[in-house]
Amino acid sequence: MILHEPVLRVETVEQLAPAGRGLIVDCTVGTGGHTAALLEAGATRVLGLDRDAEVLPLARERLAVWKDRVELVHADYRHLDAVLERRGIDQIDGALADLGHSSVQLDAEGRGFSFRRPDPLDMRMDRSQGQTLIELLDDVTPTTLADVIFEYGEERHSRRIARAIVAARDRSDLSTTADLAAVIRRSVPYRGHSRIHPATRTFQALRIWVNHELDGLDEFLRTVARRLKTGTRLAVISFHSLEDRIVKYTLRELERGGELAMRVLTRKPIRPGRDEVVRNPRARSAKLRAAERVS
Ligand SMILES: C[S@@+](CC[C@H](N)C(=O)[O-])C[C@H]1O[C@@H](n2cnc3c(N)ncnc32)[C@H](O)[C@@H]1O
Repeated sequence: MILHEPVLRVETVEQLAPAGRGLIVDCTVGTGGHTAALLEAGATRVLGLDRDAEVLPLARERLAVWKDRVELVHADYRHLDAVLERRGIDQIDGALADLGHSSVQLDAEGRGFSFRRPDPLDMRMDRSQGQTLIELLDDVTPTTLADVIFEYGEERHSRRIARAIVAARDRSDLSTTADLAAVIRRSVPYRGHSRIHPATRTFQALRIWVNHELDGLDEFLRTVARRLKTGTRLAVISFHSLEDRIVKYTLRELERGGELAMRVLTRKPIRPGRDEVVRNPRARSAKLRAAERVS
């Protein structure tokens, strides 16, 4: 099993300071890279959540040596309250959310996250529920699709791309991710050597749409804040500006107070160093923000 090094591993562990011991919730456990680092650094116990049941066996294998200190749960982090209540847990000693999808999901055959291979148009992180990409595309209008691609992909050619996708759907020319990538590539003006594939932004947008990734992110952060003991911390890693904006503003609002005061520890987000980006190009857009519960 080849598992990538978790993004901003050292920096995340530093922010969470698990030397304080106790229960850390890894809200996006994935294949367990960050959880392993937290356990190595002294966290007593980790409760790991992931909405993708298919990654949990990989996490279980990676974390086998700590199996008495880890519990893995198939759950959406937006249901954190219910997960904690079911276990009789009131307060926690730290939480991490490493948002978005993982490289394991991207590379997994048959999931539909990658445009580099002909896969079914699914893209759901949780294959036990929700609509697949092809189901959503089935009755979408070009205007709605253009809005999705513009808003979630920040793609300036959103209208052309949306029209081309809907036309291909109507001709029944869209059955795999490779078809979709080809339609997108043909619909945008040739840009010579671009750093990224012309379908990158649209695939990001469609993934966010299928998985409702931005919905409830702010409420989830408030829930974590309520659950943290005084003096303990939350760390969040995001991979695109839409997500990062929500994290930044929600943490700032929590800092301004009310009954739940948090102190933001990262005025500017922590970014990976050059070495990490060379080792792991996916880290290039990562931003880590952290906050501490102060009352
Ligand atoms: C970037 S990966 C995490 C990688 C992990 N930190 C590691 O070291 O292996 C993000 C993970 O979050 C999961 N995820 C995304 N949205 C989620 C949600 N709303 N609730 C729970 N898990 C979610 C994805 O399925 C994916 O496995």
